[in-house]
Amino acid sequence: MKYQRHFAFEMPAKIEFGTGIVRRLGEIVQLTCGGARALVVTDRGIVEAGIATKVTDVLDAKGIGHVLFADVQPEPDASGVEAAVELYRSGNCDVIVAVGGGSALDTGKAVSVMLTNPGHIRDYVGLARIQTPGAPLIALPTTAGTGSEATIWSVISERARGDKYGVGSAHMVPRVAICDPELTLTLPPRNTAVTGIDALAHALESYVNKATQPVSEALSERAMEMVARSLRTAVFAGDNVAARADMLLASTLAAMAFNPTRLGLAHALAMPLGAHAKIPHADVISILLPPVMRFNVSANLPKFARIAELFGEQVSHLSLRQAAEAGVRAVEQLIEDVGAPRSLGLYGVEERDLVFYAEEGMRSGNIAVNPRATSQNDLVGIMQACL
Ligand SMILES: [Fe+2]
Repeated sequence: MKYQRHFAFEMPAKIEFGTGIVRRLGEIVQLTCGGARALVVTDRGIVEAGIATKVTDVLDAKGIGHVLFADVQPEPDASGVEAAVELYRSGNCDVIVAVGGGSALDTGKAVSVMLTNPGHIRDYVGLARIQTPGAPLIALPTTAGTGSEATIWSVISERARGDKYGVGSAHMVPRVAICDPELTLTLPPRNTAVTGIDALAHALESYVNKATQPVSEALSERAMEMVARSLRTAVFAGDNVAARADMLLASTLAAMAFNPTRLGLAHALAMPLGAHAKIPHADVISILLPPVMRFNVSANLPKFARIAELFGEQVSHLSLRQAAEAGVRAVEQLIEDVGAPRSLGLYGVEERDLVFYAEEGMRSGNIAVNPRATSQNDLVGIMQACL
């Protein structure tokens, strides 16, 4: 009965997943877009970790030329997008290879569409406003969190204007996502923890929200199960390839889940807190997810009870409400165990700023799909719980 409602699920990208699959990058570039010269978009950390060389060596082996843009900053700026577009043009490139976490991948996606569409990236804020498909883009994630390799979203900041916004379009989904757990092995424990919680939040916020649908639900359930069983291992034993593979796959599946559904209040507030308080995205999400779940639990008891099961909690002897609350506690315990941050106060957020953040948060498209109707005061209350 519940599946009689219409839903749509678009799959614009190809996912190549596997340990060591990075070594097939050259072949994939040639097969998917005939690329002969690549703009490699990445950041300094990836260069210093030796991952950029790993990628360019594979391109060299296939005779694919490349130009390196390694200036992506955390919470990437529109100025970086413009600089990379220039480099692509002056370097006569015909394919973009983005390597890194969400910042490098989101930059690569924005570069892809700004090569084929006029104006500034901020002209396309919101959903489905880009008219022309972007330049060919191949994405290689090195964190298991944003899932940017499989989403329609690119989140860009403009520090000079104190702005941060999301641009969503099927035209900038990478042609191929090359997901190789080996590329995530050197990610330090703290980054592994917070990005893993971000991936969990993508699966969870999509799963409990009002816009979820059967394909997203299936992807979310699988993603949450894998995070529950493998995030602790990935944090505490970073060289465990099986745990890293679980986390990378969970992150990609969670991203596919939320593409058509959007997310919830944690992600609504992540924008203003990122833009003005300069808190990294995954840190905001780790802090806000527990109070957001407590706010939402009554609005969707069956889903939160199911989350308890996915986290391995024994719920058969519990009432529906008790089981749902066990789901909230299980997620909170995971956040605690992996040492993800719990306080906005640590980042200098003060009580007097909250109304301003809440006002901006209310403008997010994630508010309308949240399982419980939300007021500006509710958002203030959620942030107050984290000061
Ligand atoms: Fe996120």
